[in-house]
Amino acid sequence: MSVNILAIESSCDDTSAAVISDGKVLSNVIAGQAVHEQYGGVVPELASRAHQENIVPVVDLALKKAGMQPADLSAIAFTQSPGLIGSLLVGSSFAKSMALALDLPLIAVHHMQAHVLANFIDDPKPSFPCLCLTVSGGHTQIVRVDGPLQMTVIGETLDDAAGEAFDKSAKLLGLPYPGGPLIDKYAKEGNPKAYRFPEPQIPGLNFSFSGLKTSILYFLQENKAKDPAFVDNHLADICASIQHRIVTILTNKLVKAAQETGITEICIAGGVSANSGLRNALEELGQKHGYKVYIPQFQFCTDNAAMIAMTAHFKYLAGDFSPADIVPTARAAF
Ligand code: KG4
Ligand code: ZN
Repeated sequence: MSVNILAIESSCDDTSAAVISDGKVLSNVIAGQAVHEQYGGVVPELASRAHQENIVPVVDLALKKAGMQPADLSAIAFTQSPGLIGSLLVGSSFAKSMALALDLPLIAVHHMQAHVLANFIDDPKPSFPCLCLTVSGGHTQIVRVDGPLQMTVIGETLDDAAGEAFDKSAKLLGLPYPGGPLIDKYAKEGNPKAYRFPEPQIPGLNFSFSGLKTSILYFLQENKAKDPAFVDNHLADICASIQHRIVTILTNKLVKAAQETGITEICIAGGVSANSGLRNALEELGQKHGYKVYIPQFQFCTDNAAMIAMTAHFKYLAGDFSPADIVPTARAAF
């Protein structure tokens, strides 16, 4: 009999549901929330309300697209942590109710572990051990992966996440939220060496992005004082230079991690892995250092339930189920 799992992701501002059958993703439905754009960031209270509206149609569509009825399911999975607690509560309550009503096992999934396992949805899959650079709006981590459920964080940000560095830089440039994809877009037309932003000197495999934000702020203030149209006239070069620095901060630490561990299977994950500068840099590093580089499809890079489903599949095989009284948490290590 097939193992069919319905997975629900609601940790931030995307409501998503996916169905996986014997490790093969059959559907991955994602409803974004445009309501936050006008506020320049995710408003937790509004996110929870939008999840409430979206969850029934999103789950319904994910089942339909997979050609499944609730009765065909073997388990229900959900994102337990980390995330916005109000958002997590909507997904977890829904998942728990559904598991209870259908008398199915419940599988709680760690969102960051799931980002890593997005690399195992399509072929070719990385082999173990591998390193994963997980870069999202909330996290920046280098994870050592020794097995599907055996992961160790060996480096992480001490302040802002890489996605936040993109979004905050974009905000300083007057671009709307989320600014990461816009910086990527304008950077394509610009010179990455036009302006030089400093690289923070952080020991070990940890990252820091708050200094970069401050240096961009001073750089813009100085140049706008001389030329009020500075940003408009040099947007592509500014974006390319900011992107270049964020990407080199990330890749320099990744190379260091590969050197220290001797691991040459390298994956990326999280929303920022959609960034074309980072993708190109990784491909180049792969050729230079002999790494095998894995980059998930775009729909599996940003928040999505397919990665929750993939993780749940491994947990199902390991018999790792959760009790009905499990609660979501805003923060949790894995
Ligand atoms: O993983 P994700 O969808 O949500 C979180 O769990 O945070 O990541 C969202 C982050 C945002 O900061 C967004 O600006 C960034 O990913 N992002 C990008 C690009 N696409 C999304 N940053 C740079 N370039 C992109 N192309
Ligand atoms: Zn995420």
